[in-house]
Amino acid sequence: MNYFRRLWLDRQLKRALARNKCRLDSGIRGLRNDLQLTLEYGVKLHQVKINARTLRIGAYTDIVSGTELQDVSHIGRYCSIARNVTLGQNRKSHPLNWLSTHSALAAQRHGHCGAPLTTEPTRQTVIGHDVWIGMDALILEGVTIGTGAVIGARSLVTRDVPPYAVVTGSPARVQRYRFEPAVIEGLLASQWWNLPPEHLARLPLEDPEKLLEALQGVVVPDRDPGSVTVCNKPFSVTHRHADPAEAAAQTTARSPARADRPGLVSLLTAATARK
Ligand SMILES: CC(C)(COP(=O)(O)OP(=O)(O)OC[C@H]1O[C@@H](n2cnc3c(N)ncnc32)[C@H](O)[C@@H]1OP(=O)(O)O)[C@@H](O)C(=O)NCCC(=O)NCCS
Repeated sequence: MNYFRRLWLDRQLKRALARNKCRLDSGIRGLRNDLQLTLEYGVKLHQVKINARTLRIGAYTDIVSGTELQDVSHIGRYCSIARNVTLGQNRKSHPLNWLSTHSALAAQRHGHCGAPLTTEPTRQTVIGHDVWIGMDALILEGVTIGTGAVIGARSLVTRDVPPYAVVTGSPARVQRYRFEPAVIEGLLASQWWNLPPEHLARLPLEDPEKLLEALQGVVVPDRDPGSVTVCNKPFSVTHRHADPAEAAAQTTARSPARADRPGLVSLLTAATARK
């Protein structure tokens, strides 16, 4: 791509993302040609390479440099992904049952007589909310990582990971769970990740049992935090506005002088009680 065109596109992209407090440091060069990328409010992507086709990343998720997003379709809210992680690595990109696994040889044979290169369609990897993935982890295609899970550094994840499990090793195995089953059930039912950070910070985050008491069985409604969808080649940007209550919380967060405004109570009044 022409240098000046790339510069122009990078500027358009940066401006569009900034409206939703998002960033993508790798710019247009980090995006696959036919990509459709949706970022909710506050997503931070450092030097990240995106080879996914359609990907949605939830609000406030932070992905550090060196990470590659391959066959992954959803990443939840409040995820922390360390450096050099690969998500959705294709399991069988080379033919296992041909004479040779060499990709160029297979491609030539395909060109010669149309022999199919792969027989199995790739399955998308899905990452839940509040997942912490340690550095150099490799997560294969088609794996679902449950909300609240922790993936240890350098783990190779080949199978689904249950919510709030800590997995380590190669292949990764469940080492323990972060909380007791009743707490995990309560946290999942509460859908706390639908709250903006400034409201969460007023809850006892350091004690999930107390936090559940504070929420009093309320299921936090999923208010749209706003998002931006970027398509590459042809380049386009579409904005989706935040739900008014969510937008008010975002404004409060930006201006500390108004920090005593709305609050958790007003946010939760419209919530659906579980009981
Ligand atoms: C998994 C992790 C969160 C620790 O979880 P934990 O439950 O507190 O684990 P512990 O430290 O108590 O270790 C428990 C066991 O798991 C092993 N273990 C811990 N992390 C491991 C890893 N990444 N791979 C393999 N084994 C690991 C320990 O050696 C220990 O084994 P032992 O019982 O045989 O002695 C941490 O080790 C880790 O990998 N963090 C990611 C760090 C990172 O990448 N940070 C990047 C900046 S965001």
